[in-house]
Amino acid sequence: MATEHPQDQHNPQHGQADGHQHGRAHDHGHDHGHDHGSADRVAAWQETDPAEWFTERFWDDRYRERPIWSGNANQRLVETAADLTPGRALDVGCGEGGDAIWLAGQGWQVTGSDVSPVALERARQAGEAAGVADAVTWEQADGRGDWAPPAGAYDLVTASFLQFPRSELADFHRKLAAAVAPGGTLLITAHHADSHAGEGTPFTADLFATAQEMADGLALDAGWEVSATDPTREAVFPPGPEGTLMSVRDAVLRAVRRR
Ligand SMILES: C[S@@+](CC[C@H](N)C(=O)[O-])C[C@H]1O[C@@H](n2cnc3c(N)ncnc32)[C@H](O)[C@@H]1O
Repeated sequence: MATEHPQDQHNPQHGQADGHQHGRAHDHGHDHGHDHGSADRVAAWQETDPAEWFTERFWDDRYRERPIWSGNANQRLVETAADLTPGRALDVGCGEGGDAIWLAGQGWQVTGSDVSPVALERARQAGEAAGVADAVTWEQADGRGDWAPPAGAYDLVTASFLQFPRSELADFHRKLAAAVAPGGTLLITAHHADSHAGEGTPFTADLFATAQEMADGLALDAGWEVSATDPTREAVFPPGPEGTLMSVRDAVLRAVRRR
């Protein structure tokens, strides 16, 4: 995603008609309204069955059309990782690899995982171009269903804007938490209904959880130090001269596993 400011992976790569209305950012569960094409193309995916929104086919089709994201790391990841000592990291729903490649550049040994082989191939190429190919492993995996990352294997497990139905979140988040090593950090950054649901969007509020709702669902024990916040950030939508600088809300769950 080479982005307009703010430098955040969740801005589109190129200027485009986003159909962004009513001060909301309403791409598929993402804050950026990032499709690169015409409003017609935005409508095309919005008209797919929402049950398809979490599948390999849906995302491969979208990624095949064009690059989607900026290539920059997401702000919440940068804020969080700034205080961490590089180690092993897992980025689930890594898309085109902006976060994973940024982590690798900071000295992390990274596994980037996504349901879309098309995105992963693009991420692999971006990692090579960035000179971090040796530090990143790309893995195709569907985060739903039986998939689970290796237990206790990572010093940082991060998932940025990997939106699943509310009913599946707790189980999914538990799998991510289980992959965190003692002393490690879990970071879940999600879209917030304030910015993504309702009039002018294809989404209803029940698709989104606040950070506290995510924390309640995850129900981590006293062995974890949990922070749940719903901060805003500034983003330009649509990107380019016609865009408007607006405030976008995220749901951010950070949890550190005590030793
Ligand atoms: C909004 S994008 C975010 C990509 C990246 N994390 C970022 O911040 O730019 C959501 C990503 O989740 C992936 N995804 C969707 N459903 C998935 C699933 N069932 N399992 C794993 N990844 C999935 C998509 O392919 C897509 O790359």
